Amino acid sequence: MALEQTSKQQNPKRESKIILAASILGADPLNLERDLKRAEDTKAVEWVQVDVMDGHFTPNLSFGPDVVAQIKKKSSLFVDVHLMVSRPKNLLPVFAEKGADLITVHFEADDPAEECLQLIRKLGKKTGLALRPDTPVDRTKELLPLIDLLLVMTVNPGFAGQSFIEECVPKVAQASALLGGSGPRWLEVDGGISETTIPKVVQAGANVLVVGSALYREDPSRTVPRLVEAIQKTLGR
Ligand code: DX5
Repeated sequence: MALEQTSKQQNPKRESKIILAASILGADPLNLERDLKRAEDTKAVEWVQVDVMDGHFTPNLSFGPDVVAQIKKKSSLFVDVHLMVSRPKNLLPVFAEKGADLITVHFEADDPAEECLQLIRKLGKKTGLALRPDTPVDRTKELLPLIDLLLVMTVNPGFAGQSFIEECVPKVAQASALLGGSGPRWLEVDGGISETTIPKVVQAGANVLVVGSALYREDPSRTVPRLVEAIQKTLGR
């Protein structure tokens, strides 16, 4: 389902399609395969985001590399691994080996982002750089040539079901402008994304929307059409 981004700030390299990513952090942990399939069967969800947390960078623990391996066996979705960990560098080879398609590290992690991004590229995967809500976008300028995806978090990392931080909307627009000329293909938002907040972030230039609780609060066969409708209305479809 092509949901074309009409943003005038779109750069020639920027993916023009709006991508929906199901965050399994919002799914039923005892029924991940079922919930992943329900999202995939809607044909409108193209990515799955696997949130990895170490209990140190964020006060929560979540999934490991074997979950990625199982997802690759059971699903054809693009696997976006979001490492919310303080020391991501040592984890990159195993997540690459288990089948991650894209690996995102946090700018605020202890390991230098540049080294992590270079290693992800060396491992043959797409690269992502994530920013906490309080990290300014312009801190990423020198790293833009190394990234395929910039993730502007719209909640503080750690849990699904948190409230969207409105103050992040101008930051998404700033990121879109920063990426305007060349830069990454994907501008991703994650946290409190729903049919209510989609208009704001899509108008600001986001083209990858990570959705957890708003996708899984009911069966995805019901929630996903509402999310798609919000995108289409925003794009003037
Ligand atoms: C926060 C997580 C969540 C999750 C999506 O660390 O990254 O943002 O992916 O959860 P919802 O969509 O429920 O905010």
